[in-house]
Amino acid sequence: MSISTRSTIQQFATLSAGALIAAAFAAGAARAAEPTETELVDALNQLFGKHAGARASHAKGFCAKGAFVPSPEARTLARSNLFAAGSVPATVRFSIGGGNPAAPDKSRSVRGIAVRLADKSETHDLVLISEPVFFAATPASFLSFLKARVPNPETKKPDPARIEKHNQKFPEGKAQPAMLAGHAAPFSYATTPYFSNHAFKFTNAAGASKWARVELQPAAGTRHLTADEEKSLPDAFLEDEFKARVAGKPVEFGVFAHLQGPNDSLINPAEAWSKDSPRVRLGTLSIDRHDGQACDAEVYVPTNLASGIEASDDPVLKVRAAAYAISKGRRSN
Ligand code: HEM
Repeated sequence: MSISTRSTIQQFATLSAGALIAAAFAAGAARAAEPTETELVDALNQLFGKHAGARASHAKGFCAKGAFVPSPEARTLARSNLFAAGSVPATVRFSIGGGNPAAPDKSRSVRGIAVRLADKSETHDLVLISEPVFFAATPASFLSFLKARVPNPETKKPDPARIEKHNQKFPEGKAQPAMLAGHAAPFSYATTPYFSNHAFKFTNAAGASKWARVELQPAAGTRHLTADEEKSLPDAFLEDEFKARVAGKPVEFGVFAHLQGPNDSLINPAEAWSKDSPRVRLGTLSIDRHDGQACDAEVYVPTNLASGIEASDDPVLKVRAAAYAISKGRRSN
């Protein structure tokens, strides 16, 4: 029996029969309020359709290769060999959020980066998006967000009243759409930062721990499409742009641990962290090769972590691995 199960039973043992039934009912209701991972993937499939071979989300994308070179400061936070001196091979996938494999590159939606760092003994995945917050604080809010956007069969458009109802129930989910509406899409996968949204506990070789969110900052600087580019560029340009860019010189990102400030939540990915709390440079991700669809069959898992790095109790982070496995299972259906 786990310690948490035992302590729950101990708490229940001190309650009267009536309170016991009420507490058990409340616990059951709280659990029932959170959807299963299958329901989350079903909702993605319902909104975007099922596309053979494609991921249920971040369906459009391409692969790349490079290496991660840790900085000397990385050892102050992380004890894993991946963050010691030397160069670690990295496979990378860039993507557009949502389950549409033909999503226009100009859409004001999130861009994603998935990175697998792997040496002989360990692997670590980063699965990040181009905004510092997520659109849902819980799986229930994720489900409601997607359901509210399913187009009305008559108008073929989402019903604004349903979106408003969702916003009233889950107001924390409004921040990300507002950020996305506030700027055009990235000009290039190489000109946007990427963020983990979730917090991870980093423990160094001396056993000291710190909480941080992970950030990738583009060496090329942040650049979004201009109003003219937003009008004139075709729907597909990001992959060609990246191919041409990386043929010239490596595309680099600084990899940072954004340390938790005093009021920063460990469990709410929809809430931004204080901008001014320190960043520790973990190293540089240098991408030197476009690799087509070579990583298509991979599953990047945000809780596949190197030793000494642990996931928080964030309820969104907790469901991601299972949801990604379900999506992988459906890719061949
Ligand atoms: C309840 C929360 C979430 C659910 C249910 C969900 C679901 C999914 C699914 C089903 C996939 C396709 C996986 C595959 O077939 O390999 C996916 C991909 C992805 N998700 Fe999520 N996601 C969630 C939250 C997030 C968050 C918080 C982030 C980033 C902060 C994120 C970033 C990504 C990225 C970058 C990919 C593409 C990975 C790749 O290129 O292989 N997702 N998501």
